Amino acid sequence: MPALSDATRGRILFGGDHNPEQWPEETWHEDVRLMKDAGVTSVTVGVFSWSRLEPRPGAREFGWLDRLLDLLHDNGVAVVLATPTAAPPPWLGRLHPETLPRDEDGHVERWGGRQHFAPSSAVYRRHAAAITEDLAARYAAHPALVMWHINNEYCTYDWGDEAAAGFRRWLRDRYGTLDGLNTAWGTAFWGQEHDSWEGVLPPRRVHYLKNPAQVLDFRRFSSDALLACFTAERDIVRRHTPHLPVTTNFMPLWSGQDGWRWAAEEDVVSVDLYPDPRDPDGPRHGALVQDLARSQAGGPWMLMEQAAGAVDWRPVNHPKPRGLNRLWTLQAVARGADAVHYFQWRQSRQGAEKFHSAMLGHAGEEGRGFGEVRRIGAELALLGPEVSGSGVRADIAVLHDWDAWWAGDQDGRPTNGTGHAELLSAWHGALWEAGLTTDLAHPESDLSAYRVLVVPRLHLLTDTAADNLLARVAAGATLVCGFRTGVVDPDDRVRPGGMDARLRDLFGIRVLHELWPLEAGESVECDGWEGELGSNRTALGGQLRVFRGTLWSEEIEAAPSAEAAFRYRGGELDGLPAVLRRDRAWYFSTLPEPGALKALLTAIAADAGVRPVLDGLPAGVEAVRRGDLLFLLHHGRSTVTVDVPGGHRDLLTGETVTDRVTLGRYGAAVLRP
Ligand code: GAL
Repeated sequence: MPALSDATRGRILFGGDHNPEQWPEETWHEDVRLMKDAGVTSVTVGVFSWSRLEPRPGAREFGWLDRLLDLLHDNGVAVVLATPTAAPPPWLGRLHPETLPRDEDGHVERWGGRQHFAPSSAVYRRHAAAITEDLAARYAAHPALVMWHINNEYCTYDWGDEAAAGFRRWLRDRYGTLDGLNTAWGTAFWGQEHDSWEGVLPPRRVHYLKNPAQVLDFRRFSSDALLACFTAERDIVRRHTPHLPVTTNFMPLWSGQDGWRWAAEEDVVSVDLYPDPRDPDGPRHGALVQDLARSQAGGPWMLMEQAAGAVDWRPVNHPKPRGLNRLWTLQAVARGADAVHYFQWRQSRQGAEKFHSAMLGHAGEEGRGFGEVRRIGAELALLGPEVSGSGVRADIAVLHDWDAWWAGDQDGRPTNGTGHAELLSAWHGALWEAGLTTDLAHPESDLSAYRVLVVPRLHLLTDTAADNLLARVAAGATLVCGFRTGVVDPDDRVRPGGMDARLRDLFGIRVLHELWPLEAGESVECDGWEGELGSNRTALGGQLRVFRGTLWSEEIEAAPSAEAAFRYRGGELDGLPAVLRRDRAWYFSTLPEPGALKALLTAIAADAGVRPVLDGLPAGVEAVRRGDLLFLLHHGRSTVTVDVPGGHRDLLTGETVTDRVTLGRYGAAVLRP
């Protein structure tokens, strides 16, 4: 199978979405001049070009694209060619209204925006296949073409009639019979038993709460329906260009697609990432999305879109201060990106995104933003041969799964304050703050490379996954598990005892009596109990005696074999275990406040022989090893000094550094020993 390296060819790809159909052809010539000036290696073309390529049903207007690809190629700019199927032309919806998606109330989403297609619509799929076929046939041999980009940010849901029919087919495949469906969905509750397949619907508007198993299956089905759209187009382009890699860009930490299943169908994993420049947690969020992309890819990945400055879809859109675009670009490269693209190359003058930044903004080539883009392009050209293709090694895996996300984030739960993404971010963020490099992994995957497994929340856990965790602990791995894990089986049926019995045994939970969710802002004191701390005290570095637990607490009766590393102090749960430990298996029945979680994870990892990338980093400095390079990234504005014992060469400056590096505002160094 082709890979990202077939497109990068030893470089880091650098460029953005290029939408020349918005501009007169004279501008294209200025574009290529400035692209060369900025070190642009590649652009993504054609993402929303369907109405230009097929202005009338069956017509083909490829002349402009021929000229564009030739021009780009003549100027040394490679092309990631998109299929335009994320934005069908207005005529498709007008002539074939069944191609338009419907929301859960039956309202139609029309053309005039984008992504107005019903994934299950046979007519949509036929038209999408036809334009993809002709595009692939026409450009298969074009020398500019290095990669295919299918559609854009697949994210539509559809509750319409064709979706209903597709959903029924999907359910028949899964359950075989109506009895099987009724059992899996627990339709005995509220008298929802189905007597015919015709009555089985997507979860449309109902009076009160929906059947959660139906909602879970609809999320699975919707992900699969979109995936079928992707694979259909992928197979077409592959037939024409078996040597070229195929991707589609994910939204960052998006719940709508089963990202593990999708990644397995792609040659290149690519993702879009837009942290808020004002958000102090921006780099932490970036690291999570980047670690996930690298883990999905199993190696180098592509940042398909980021913003050079401000976006236009937050209530207030802040530009990136000087240096931040560069810093966040280097962060992506440090965490495994071999390609960095932006939305978009040239800022639009019309349309919905005219106030969204671009590599070349309204200020033009004199603008500060373009100056920074030029610098980034030059630096990535230097780094390319040094990093391209290399990996990031992690001893810790954070386990994450979309099925668990969908099952856990539903109505009718104990609290809506413990969302999957929030907990994932809290646990991964604490590891990031601790300077510990982590992958993300599916709970059923081969976890033998990891010494520490961290489970933020896997509400739904399959038998295979539970056995996998047990086997890893038996083989010597350390498991750190957060609350609400192993609660339901794959049919969303609560496990006997409220939590998987194997896990309860593993952690030494005899009875899980009651769940005590906390209010937002409420916290509960947790105290390391002298008498039982013993071995835990060593594991925890003897430092942390007391922390405050947030979001959640549980009334647990521990088995005699379990140690309570921490107990609740005060309140209804006074004296009951808050953190349980049995050998290498830790169970957290509450979420420690961020500083405490960081300290606990640092100590538990150290006990398992896993250390941060660098000790004693100043606050705000991130260190990542990629291959044999050490990336230092300073997320603050003050000047800091980082101790790096020994002699290194900073690839960005060419200078030799001995024992310490000074980093200014948003500074970075890429050190080779
Ligand atoms: C992405 C999308 C781009 C552009 C960008 C703006 O979601 O793929 O086309 O809209 O957002 O931030």
